[in-house]
Amino acid sequence: MAPQTTPETQAGATLSLDGKSLTLPVVRGSEGETAVDVQQLRAKTGMITLDPGFANTGSCRSAITFIDGEKGILRYRGYPIDDLAQHSSFLEVAWLLLHGALPTRAELGTFTHDVTHHTLLHEDFDRFFDAMPKDAHPMPVAAAAVGALATYYQDPETEDNLRDAIVRLIAKMPTIAAYSYKHSIGQPSMYPQNRLDYASNFLRMMFATPCEEYEVDPTLARAIDLLLILHADHEQNCSTSTVRMVGSSRANLFASVSAGISALWGPLHGGANQKVIEMLERIAAEEGSAEVFLNRAKDKNDTTRLMGFGHRVYKSYDPRAAILKKACGEVIGRMKSASRMLDIAMRLEEIALKDDYFVSHKLYPNVDFYSGVIYKAMGIPMNMFTVMFAMGRMPGWIAQWLEMRNDPDTKIARPRQIYTGATQRAYVPMAKRG
Ligand code: CMC
Repeated sequence: MAPQTTPETQAGATLSLDGKSLTLPVVRGSEGETAVDVQQLRAKTGMITLDPGFANTGSCRSAITFIDGEKGILRYRGYPIDDLAQHSSFLEVAWLLLHGALPTRAELGTFTHDVTHHTLLHEDFDRFFDAMPKDAHPMPVAAAAVGALATYYQDPETEDNLRDAIVRLIAKMPTIAAYSYKHSIGQPSMYPQNRLDYASNFLRMMFATPCEEYEVDPTLARAIDLLLILHADHEQNCSTSTVRMVGSSRANLFASVSAGISALWGPLHGGANQKVIEMLERIAAEEGSAEVFLNRAKDKNDTTRLMGFGHRVYKSYDPRAAILKKACGEVIGRMKSASRMLDIAMRLEEIALKDDYFVSHKLYPNVDFYSGVIYKAMGIPMNMFTVMFAMGRMPGWIAQWLEMRNDPDTKIARPRQIYTGATQRAYVPMAKRG
């Protein structure tokens, strides 16, 4: 396991109200970040905290991912994202997230073998895909399929069964993703092949047909692997918090992750990568409209946002976006196709980063700004972009779920509220309501 630093608890913050004061403990994490521990607040004062969007609320202690949003730092289990992106593979990163340490050669070999040999879906799953409308978006299909895995693997939750469930989720996600795409275009699904690595297997299942084999370009497979690494975890974001929240009721792993996929679908979260390309295409269709679009994004009376820009945590350049911007050039060079989308994206970024509004609001490109440009250049259909995000996030969701499950401080997630509705009133019978 990774070296874990027990957060130091100090006597600390004093809260004064109505002439009384309460001293609350202050918790310090291993990177020096601090929190006021309010667990005793309601018991001692009757009050709760109010924090819509949980922007100031730490929901757990976690030893998995560290982000410093001001400095643009992202580390998995202490390892900088740039180092992992440059030297690691997705399955190595998955192991790291799950186990807290980089795998030995033998551990990675066994894990890769296990994942490779669990990629098949039960044949009955064909009926599941057949039941979906032909034009179904692959995201809800993927969420439903992952939830449906719980009906195939109903074993009691022993450590061994859980280990199998983890391998199955990571192994079957690319198969589910590719099957949902093939179904949407009316082509037969392609079985996974054990001779191929994780990313190559996915690309082949997407693009081969029974009539024509698909030769996987190693540059593109490496780009997919890189994208998966960059998406693998991102601490307590919306979908991960959802996975933890659902899991806190002791719902099983498949059910918890299925809920996470649904949370990821929203355009303010993982769905932004599809929205970025829709935005770039709109700008491309209306010649010279980058400036016009940015003005709309700045206008308080207009709900338009510059998709792929801004982040709850990063208040400087998202390090994942920087890595992807470079990778975009490489993939597009390999495809030997000029990318109008990349040109427009770079132009938008250039204008936005000089614009007072974006500078003063600390809005920078996030991971979704360039990922869609790469997917598009590779021929991955737009409605699959967020499914790719889900495929990458799988080990992170699982690692966070395991950490939640093994944390003695975990309680069922059950926030409070400030009620603002009607106070008690007398029921009016229908006859008197007119
Ligand atoms: N374009 C224009 N204005 C923006 C944008 C944007 N993309 N993002 C934030 N703002 C403004 C917002 O209008 C607000 O302005 P003001 O304070 O003047 O009212 C201010 O910045 C703060 O915005 P917020 O919505 O309160 O910030 P948040 O932390 O709740 O939202 C966000 C974070 C990611 C939802 C938001 O920046 C956004 O909607 N971005 C576009 C969608 C997007 O790219 N999402 C992908 C996020 S990265 C992948 C992931 O981890 O899911």
